[in-house]
Amino acid sequence: MSLLDVSGLSCRFGSQTALSDISFQVDKGEIIGVIGSSGAGKSTLLRCLCALERPTEGQILLEGADLTQLTERELVAARRKVGLVFQHFNLLNSRSVAANIALPLEIAGWAGGRITERVEELLTLVGLESHGYKRPSQLSGGQKQRVGIARAIANSPSLLLCDEATSALDPHTTTSILDLLVDINRSLGLTIILITHEMEVVRRFAHRVLVLDHGALIENGSMATLMRDSRGDPRLERLLADTRPSLPDTLRSQLSTVPLPDGLTLVRVVLGPQAAKTPFLSVLTRRFDQAITLIQGGTLACGSELLTDMILGFSEPLSEPLISFLEQETHVTEVLGYVPADH
Ligand SMILES: Nc1ncnc2c1ncn2[C@@H]1O[C@H](COP(=O)(O)OP(=O)(O)O)[C@@H](O)[C@H]1O
Ligand SMILES: [Mg+2]
Repeated sequence: MSLLDVSGLSCRFGSQTALSDISFQVDKGEIIGVIGSSGAGKSTLLRCLCALERPTEGQILLEGADLTQLTERELVAARRKVGLVFQHFNLLNSRSVAANIALPLEIAGWAGGRITERVEELLTLVGLESHGYKRPSQLSGGQKQRVGIARAIANSPSLLLCDEATSALDPHTTTSILDLLVDINRSLGLTIILITHEMEVVRRFAHRVLVLDHGALIENGSMATLMRDSRGDPRLERLLADTRPSLPDTLRSQLSTVPLPDGLTLVRVVLGPQAAKTPFLSVLTRRFDQAITLIQGGTLACGSELLTDMILGFSEPLSEPLISFLEQETHVTEVLGYVPADH
């Protein structure tokens, strides 16, 4: 049984459809990235998953219990299984850092002594051992989000939902918060769903990617699958653009759709985790006797995998045997066009 099983989920606000017939499953221990542009329905999905929003249609099974069918009373217990991390931290400045983390434990009726012990443990887990006495306003953005994460996992939830958890942070701090979430995922086996409009965050972090577009789920797969399926799909290409190598402007402006005498053939090539470890360019050069230029790209970390995503310049138009070799050995081969030799 999956930890989370969503089927036929729709959510409408009057005539506005925020989510339309969404189905997916999440296994225990997975890190899922949910990506989509503004208004795609990401926050609505997250609110449905923590039962803050009742969907118009569909089922949300969390550990077998359907969140859409529970009574208000049962929901209080079910919500404790889901931790929430927000973009703007939502900490109470009238309370110390330790007291902010203690809040969900107080609400759950824990005894005072056990709360103190648990808060110490959580402060250590998120790297804020000596900060418990401070007020949230004395902390940096990254430290505030560490408090937000400690508070979210205080009740040992089975699912952690993060809505734009790093969007208010600078790139360096974003990395440190993502590293913390990966640590927590590994050490506690905690399942994480992270919602963001930044593909770059998802690429580095997620085992699997869900893409929402105008309320519909248009993709559900690994980063490699996403790159393959993005060919010719402008919605996916737009989302991926920030995180992929792209043609320098000077080359783009000279790009032709027909081969040019003595010109270069520009090809995007994506290699999966296995091929990314082989001397791929040497093999190509030797086998097909071509001069190959690396225009852009290299090897990227995608969740726990490595993918190679690059734009190559071949000295000649691609021959049939070369094309079939590329089709066989790569995840994606896409001819982008042709540029003059003296570009
Ligand atoms: N409570 C609400 N009432 C009416 N419309 C809403 C409500 N919540 C969200 N929407 C609409 O649903 C769509 C999806 O919103 P949202 O889930 O916030 O998207 P995202 O988080 O991807 O930016 C938007 O068009 C938004 O205006
Ligand atoms: Mg949102």
